Amino acid sequence: MSQAESDTKDILYDKDHPFAAKITENRILNKEGSAKDTRHFVVDITGSNLTYNCGDSLGIYPTNHPEYVEEVLRVLGFSGNETINIPKIEKALTIREAFLHKLSLAGPSKKFLQALVEKVTNKHEIAEARNFLEPGARKELMAYLGERELIDFLVETPSAKWQPQELVNLMKRLVPRLYSIASSPSRYPLEIHLTVAVVRYNSNNRDRFGVCTTYLSERVKLNAPIVPVFVASSHFGLPEEQDKDVIMVGPGTGIAPFRSFLQEREENEAKGRNWLFFGDQHIATDYLYSEEFKSWKQNGFLQNLSLAFSRDQEEKVYVQNRMLECGKELWEWLKGGAYFYVCGDAKRMAVDVDQALNQIAREHGDLSEQEARIYVKGLKKEKRYQRDIY
Ligand SMILES: Cc1cc2nc3c(=O)[nH]c(=O)nc-3n(C[C@H](O)[C@H](O)[C@H](O)COP(=O)(O)OP(=O)(O)OC[C@H]3O[C@@H](n4cnc5c(N)ncnc54)[C@H](O)[C@@H]3O)c2cc1C
Ligand SMILES: NC(=O)c1ccc[n+]([C@@H]2O[C@H](COP(=O)([O-])OP(=O)(O)OC[C@H]3O[C@@H](n4cnc5c(N)ncnc54)[C@H](OP(=O)(O)O)[C@@H]3O)[C@@H](O)[C@H]2O)c1
Repeated sequence: MSQAESDTKDILYDKDHPFAAKITENRILNKEGSAKDTRHFVVDITGSNLTYNCGDSLGIYPTNHPEYVEEVLRVLGFSGNETINIPKIEKALTIREAFLHKLSLAGPSKKFLQALVEKVTNKHEIAEARNFLEPGARKELMAYLGERELIDFLVETPSAKWQPQELVNLMKRLVPRLYSIASSPSRYPLEIHLTVAVVRYNSNNRDRFGVCTTYLSERVKLNAPIVPVFVASSHFGLPEEQDKDVIMVGPGTGIAPFRSFLQEREENEAKGRNWLFFGDQHIATDYLYSEEFKSWKQNGFLQNLSLAFSRDQEEKVYVQNRMLECGKELWEWLKGGAYFYVCGDAKRMAVDVDQALNQIAREHGDLSEQEARIYVKGLKKEKRYQRDIY
């Protein structure tokens, strides 16, 4: 082995020392006519010595959109070449570099807003913001900030003149985004697959674009070793015993770790049974990885595949409705020692699935409300109820 080869072999890539990976595949999983844009990415980690387990996530450091950075610089009247310092980064950077790679141009903080209202010399500018900074207006302040990004405030306050360093001191850092790994380490040791919903929406009359999801889907050149990544390990993962049954609930992008779990169980010829709950808007356009799941169902590797396409009928149908419909069987699996996993939306889906689980314990285990809660708590303690939610 040459000296150069042995040097690269020893490098340990982590959150503070990310590996410059290649994206080798960027494929839309939805069919034409879908309201969603969910992508399958393949990240090549050859040469990194990175390893991963089922249930881990991939961390990615994104770059802000260059056109957006130029717009912010223009509104501020900066050339972009002004040098600034950022705490914990030793060398001085140009403000353009900082806006591209180090600072968040998204929703600014309360501290920024306080400084801004002091700075405007025309008191008619963002006059309403003063009310939101009053004590007791926290909810209103959060809603007001939530609809705006830095650019909104800069455009609305031409009378405020900023020094580059002064502004930088009030800005939040651009942080890495995490994505649940959708491939199995046994099958793909040198690749990491991701299932990513591209974030695009409109607020305060401006089109907004998720930083990392549009970086990956629109700006990263395929096969260029430029995407800074690291593996974030997790407590979310398969049971060590191969004969345990697993129940997986993963609507939308929540499917990602379960594709990994199923590939891994197939590689290991695990004897335990597999049950997947998946849902999204429409079966015709949003049945992600349909060929793979249909084939697993056909060959019997997936004992149960419970689907909930929410918008294919008048009344919404969600994964928790399917759980309740099959409550008796689900309870039998749990009583037999099955592991129960949930991945995806934290705010609503995971709460509702948790309630459905409690309801099943009450109805099919003949438990009181309190006994059901204790039972579910016990599952968590035994690590038989695990969640990867965001
Ligand atoms: C452990 C973990 C695993 C994850 N796994 C996955 C995964 O497998 N797949 C996946 O796609 N994501 C996953 N995520 C979420 C992911 O990390 C990012 O948060 C997501 O992709 C958005 O990143 P972004 O930079 O594109 O958007 P950002 O620029 O960070 O913008 C997102 C923000 O925009 C705002 N926003 C978004 N939509 C709207 C709307 N409709 N109306 C108003 N405001 C809105 C919200 O404030 C939101 O927080 C995971 C998160 C965690 C913590
Ligand atoms: N900002 C928001 O309001 C919001 C909402 C959802 C997701 N997200 C985020 O958007 C990203 C992408 O989402 P995704 O593509 O993974 O899928 P998703 O938007 O979470 O949707 C997947 C499926 O879950 C359904 N769903 C909605 N509410 C549910 C609930 N309470 N219980 C069970 N299922 C429910 C959806 O139905 P319907 O859409 O037909 O209701 C859809 O069929 C994720 O990061 C997620 O956290 C944001």
